[in-house]
Amino acid sequence: MSRTGDYDAVRRDIVAQLKKPDYDDGSAGPVFVRLAWHSAGTYDAESDTGGSNGAGMRYEAEGGDPANAGLQHGRAFLEPVKEKHPWITYSDLWTLAGAVAIEEMGGPKVQWKPGRTDLVDDSKVPPRGRLPDGAQGADHLRFIFYRMGFNDQEIVALAGGHNLGRCHIDRSGFQGPWVNNPTRFSNQFFKLLLRLEWSPKTLPSGIKQFVYVDPDAEEGDEQLMMLPTDIALVTDPKFRVWVEKYAEDKDLFFDHFAKVFAKLVELGIRRNEQGAIVNTDNVKGGYVSAPKKSNTATGPPKKQAAEVRARL
Ligand code: HEM
Repeated sequence: MSRTGDYDAVRRDIVAQLKKPDYDDGSAGPVFVRLAWHSAGTYDAESDTGGSNGAGMRYEAEGGDPANAGLQHGRAFLEPVKEKHPWITYSDLWTLAGAVAIEEMGGPKVQWKPGRTDLVDDSKVPPRGRLPDGAQGADHLRFIFYRMGFNDQEIVALAGGHNLGRCHIDRSGFQGPWVNNPTRFSNQFFKLLLRLEWSPKTLPSGIKQFVYVDPDAEEGDEQLMMLPTDIALVTDPKFRVWVEKYAEDKDLFFDHFAKVFAKLVELGIRRNEQGAIVNTDNVKGGYVSAPKKSNTATGPPKKQAAEVRARL
């Protein structure tokens, strides 16, 4: 048990969780980044609901959303950290894990501030359907991200999160990694979007994605992929301008990504001059740290995995 507020100790224990030789590409980093993003990406600026404050994914209403399938692995990997530092809220832990993972995988340092609280029941869990659907196009991306308060440049920078990790057929129905080294943060995603030829491919599940058919591929080589929403970044002229800039200038992308990721995990959070969160829930309930959950990645998303498998 660490001293309350010793975030450096938490950071160290998050780093210790990253290496996972038997999981995916050997790192929990990508799933931590996605966990942080999905915890925050429910924000709706108009109603001022959703966002990372609350950690609603602990409840079936949000954790069981098919859009969050697979994130139970990220949450379970962080349970030993919660056990060692029971004072930290899940909402702080998940967002911090995303920031730490980005940095540890070679990305920029993301400004992260503490003070989020955990919901005490599911009454304020945002409705499902607020996260983006990879099968759609540019209009959908704008609809989803403008709702959170982002502009076109920020949408493209954020989409650069797909330099990391992979799609899993039993989670989203899509399959494969975007880049050759999915545990190293870079601007490769933007370079590949522009430089490779992306062909549509319908998976046995009926889901459509884009793949690069490498003429030099050898037996067993994994095909790189893009989601329809990723391809929309090059077919939409306003998005494309930013893809070109980020493909050419890694430093610019790192700078913009760090800023926009920091903005993402602060959506819906109001702070006073000292940096303390002043949202009514946090003030009324104090800084509520929810009790620790189980260490294993179990729960509702399995149901969704079964549904996807049944469609195959
Ligand atoms: C632009 C709209 C977006 C769409 C439609 C989208 C969609 C998806 C989908 C379908 C997957 C595969 C999930 C799976 O099968 O495990 C995925 C994975 C991922 N996404 Fe996104 N995403 C979007 C934006 C973002 C943003 C803003 C970030 C972070 C800044 C991000 C980071 C990731 C990461 C790191 C993974 C890999 C997770 C893993 O390896 O387990 N995505 N995304």
